[in-house]
Amino acid sequence: MLEQSATSWHQKTPGASDILTTGIHQQPTQRSWLLVTENSTYALGVTEEEYVLNLYWGARLSFFSDIPAASMPPDRSSQDVSLALAPEEYPAFGGLRFGELAAKITFADQTRDADLRFHDAEIGEQDGLPALRILLQDAVYPLQVALLYQVDVANDVIIRSACFTNQGADPIVLERLFSAVWHLPRQVMPRRLTTLGGHWAGESRLQQQQVVTGTTLLESRKGVTGSHAYPWFALDTQANEQQGEVYFGTLAWSGNWALRIATTITGATAIGGGIHEHDFAWTLAAQTSFTTPDFVAGFTLDGMNGVRRRLHRYVREQVLPQKQASQPRPVLYNSWEATTFDVTEEGQCLLAERAAGLGVELFVVDDGWFPGRVHDRAGLGDWRVDPQKFPHGLRPLIERVKTLGMQFGLWVEPEMVNADSDLYRLHPDWIYHFPQRPRSEARNQLVLNVGRQDVQAYLLTVLDQLLTENAIDFIKWDMNRPLAEPGWPEYSARGGDAREIWVRHTQGIYAILDALRARHPDLSIESCSSGGGRADLGVLRRTDQVWASDNTHPDARLFIQEGISHILPGRVMGAWVTDMPHDRMVNEIPVQYRFHIAMMGALGIGGHLLHWSDEDLAEATRWIAVYKSIRHLVQDGDQYWLLSPTASKGDLAAVTSVAPDGSEAVLFAFRRSNPFWEPLPFLRLQGLQPATRYRVRELGNASASEIVLSGAALMRRGLELPLQRGSYASCLLHIRAEA
Ligand code: DGJ
Repeated sequence: MLEQSATSWHQKTPGASDILTTGIHQQPTQRSWLLVTENSTYALGVTEEEYVLNLYWGARLSFFSDIPAASMPPDRSSQDVSLALAPEEYPAFGGLRFGELAAKITFADQTRDADLRFHDAEIGEQDGLPALRILLQDAVYPLQVALLYQVDVANDVIIRSACFTNQGADPIVLERLFSAVWHLPRQVMPRRLTTLGGHWAGESRLQQQQVVTGTTLLESRKGVTGSHAYPWFALDTQANEQQGEVYFGTLAWSGNWALRIATTITGATAIGGGIHEHDFAWTLAAQTSFTTPDFVAGFTLDGMNGVRRRLHRYVREQVLPQKQASQPRPVLYNSWEATTFDVTEEGQCLLAERAAGLGVELFVVDDGWFPGRVHDRAGLGDWRVDPQKFPHGLRPLIERVKTLGMQFGLWVEPEMVNADSDLYRLHPDWIYHFPQRPRSEARNQLVLNVGRQDVQAYLLTVLDQLLTENAIDFIKWDMNRPLAEPGWPEYSARGGDAREIWVRHTQGIYAILDALRARHPDLSIESCSSGGGRADLGVLRRTDQVWASDNTHPDARLFIQEGISHILPGRVMGAWVTDMPHDRMVNEIPVQYRFHIAMMGALGIGGHLLHWSDEDLAEATRWIAVYKSIRHLVQDGDQYWLLSPTASKGDLAAVTSVAPDGSEAVLFAFRRSNPFWEPLPFLRLQGLQPATRYRVRELGNASASEIVLSGAALMRRGLELPLQRGSYASCLLHIRAEA
């Protein structure tokens, strides 16, 4: 059942010639629905055979009469019959369907064929958003599938999921259960697919390809979102950063996932996505339900920056835990790169004193604070304080940190054990394994079976205890290896299907995070998986920021940050100034450049502050103060990428973040090399008010003069950037409307 609401935007039944407002509209005679956002329309309807078809998705349409009634397409040939051609909203394997499938189902009598037909529809509200629920019912078997469409009107985004309910007495096995299949209008003009690929220390890098007949598969089979691909796509038609038609979407799921972008020679394009079917099956017991993760997708005519603005706002307003999302993300210090496992009370206190002197607001002790953790071969699993490193527990350090005016944070990696740990010695059966196979280690770690209730209860108890006994404001939750040997012998012995672990693991992590947040409502959490390997919208429902990459080299970071900026707003993207890698950075790249790169996200410091010169410390203090004065724009403004590092092969980048009302903006610009000492062309800004006069000032440069220009001049004529002539030049401009 949907939550019902007294608001007036839903259940409208206008006539064919009435102009449609935003919201959900029902066409009473044709059994069709229009989901109208500020700039897009999504239409679906029921055919006389009771199939639910997509009727349209794209730029906003204003009249019901613009949308055809739902009807099955005629057979094209015996090879392309009607059902294979119909753009079904949720096509399940069965009958003559050969296109992109949303589900594959096996019933107790071994029938591997589903026949889902329209049963009912309901309009209401879900989690504060207008929502449409379409009920499908199998023609013969007691299986109901509820398709949920939530509409984020302002952000042109639709959030889809499917809920399977076994209404009978026999189990039903679900072998594919995607969240949705999205259909794009057939078109002659070629589309371009943009995705994000990468690996550890090189996540989220842009790739683009022309869409041709066939299927592109993006996936993770590692039990975690992964750093090799991000569950996001954009399909555009001749779009650039500033304008053009783009369809985009992302999966909110932190386990195995698949995104399939399928196009036929006739230009029909369908995008299916959800939990990966690889090694997966879910037994839906009698009278139980299973709900898929959300698949969020939208449409814009505003190019790739339009995608960014919509997803950023959606993430901030609908995904992130709202209490923390309403506060600025603090400037943090993290000890990992400075001390690695060499963590001591005294050493951390010294770093904390230096950090506080710079203006850091949150001091985080990373890996190495628990017993046996002097290297990466021992300790994971034993989440208690090492009495050798902290003879009086964490309390003295925490008190020092708080006296210095900072919050305190701690690193954990709850899903893991080292074989050399008390937990593993006590519970060797708690990890994924097959009895007759070796237990593969990666980084000397094994993965706890977080699908088990006893493991979940244990982890919740120890983490809760840690947070209750110590005044911890923030945890960094890490996850440093993929799942392997995915067996669960006890479950199999009880008749369970251990292929469920791929989902149960993620559900278990979510349950622990949810319970921790409920018990500690002021806690903030950073999601990390060897850098940016778990940065999806599923984990971000229960965490506040992500560690974008272990690679903090400014050259690499520009690419990584450009990629991730298509989905995640500045407040979510953790970015540190560090001393790593040692090769050239410290000697050759100015502190200013390194700060400007990290100031584009949630700023942190990761360098060894006891080794920084007085000059560098003073400069860091200045930039941290500047960051605090502009972070409302960086973290929560509308982001426009004006010069793409990918397009310039890493030489140039320019990004502006603008207050939603256009009254204020910041602009970061970078030029890595300039062998010909050439000036840059004028840079045209975005997002300002044409008729407003703005004062433009370079931040961090006391001798720079201010200029005053209209928004029209800044956006149409452009701005000459005050970049130094040589390599690694950067600038940071503040643009404010004159009072
Ligand atoms: C991997 C993370 O990405 C690093 O930032 C750090 O926390 C290490 N793990 C610690 O083992």
